[in-house]
Amino acid sequence: MRVEDIDTPALLVDVAIMEENLRWMQAKADRAGVKLRPHTKTHRTPALARRQVELGAHGITVAKLGEAEVMVEAGLSDIFIANEIVGPLKLTRLRRLARRARLAVAVDSPVQVHALAETFASEAEPLDVLIDVDTGDARTGVQPGQPVLELARLVSAAPGLRLRGIYTHEGHSYGAPDVAAVQAVFRRSQEDMLATAALLRQHGLPVEEISVGATPALLVADILPGITEIRPGTYIFLDAAQANLLGTYARCALTVLTTVTSRPTPERVVLDAGVKALTAFVRGAGVCQTHGYGVLKGLPHLHLEKLSDEHGVFTALPGRAWAIGDRVEIIPNHACPTCNLYDRIYGVRDGRVVNAWPILARGESR
Ligand SMILES: Cc1ncc(COP(=O)(O)O)c(C=O)c1O
Repeated sequence: MRVEDIDTPALLVDVAIMEENLRWMQAKADRAGVKLRPHTKTHRTPALARRQVELGAHGITVAKLGEAEVMVEAGLSDIFIANEIVGPLKLTRLRRLARRARLAVAVDSPVQVHALAETFASEAEPLDVLIDVDTGDARTGVQPGQPVLELARLVSAAPGLRLRGIYTHEGHSYGAPDVAAVQAVFRRSQEDMLATAALLRQHGLPVEEISVGATPALLVADILPGITEIRPGTYIFLDAAQANLLGTYARCALTVLTTVTSRPTPERVVLDAGVKALTAFVRGAGVCQTHGYGVLKGLPHLHLEKLSDEHGVFTALPGRAWAIGDRVEIIPNHACPTCNLYDRIYGVRDGRVVNAWPILARGESR
């Protein structure tokens, strides 16, 4: 099959670039002596998770229990669900899944600890738990230091649970104003994590895992000694946001293949890809700031200016004709939600389609 045989809109990945991205991060983890546990929420694709493990990843990360179920079904066996699992319906599913794979989950409140302990107290094996630490992202997580110690004590005293360690996600690195600021965010986050781990150890609590990571931080900053695990996700593809940080689109592996369906004016080019093919995601500020709703591959100064459900619009360059029926590849602003819109990813090498990986955990957000 050639790329011309794929109907649009379709999700493509340049396999050579993806492989290079995978090997780059694995080599960074190996050099630093840390485990790589990639976040597979980016692709939701078991075949790609297996490739990450083949190249050296120690298990995978997911964001949702539904993703974990799909990954276990596909043979992945060591999974950290980097999220709080809440409610009796999910706890029952979690208990069932934990009998089939090595799992760990996150907590940031005694409420979750009590519910997990109640669910797992009578199980043969305890459930591993990592404390979610907020090092500046201001999403979930407890503050570093004493609050982590208090929650860690509760976890280690709880029946049915085993404290594996602590983790954080530097989501705020996306909004840092420049590369130096991204590096400072990552250094500060790791220092907070190391100091918190030291506090727990001083109080006799074992901390096997100190897990950190976000792709922008890992692209441009060093991993400090003492960190044991990194969890980047978007690094497998990179996207327009990461390209702005790197100053190049050359490492972007993922594109949406589209067709020009209308040329209503000499300037206006209309594609068959809108919100349902690209998402309307934008990064509004910082070194990862995006422009428009996606960038034309090979023409990085051209971006989609307008999206509706099924249409994307950009302005033609003077002297360059786009005709109805032409194909255009768009680099998405954010790889993760874009993948969730498709049934499969076509792997492309030298213009030939060499894989069609089913995105089996697509839509599995429960
Ligand atoms: C908890 C957690 N860890 C790791 C990641 C990976 O981040 P990135 O895609 O920037 O590598 C995310 C992404 O949202 C996350 O929420």
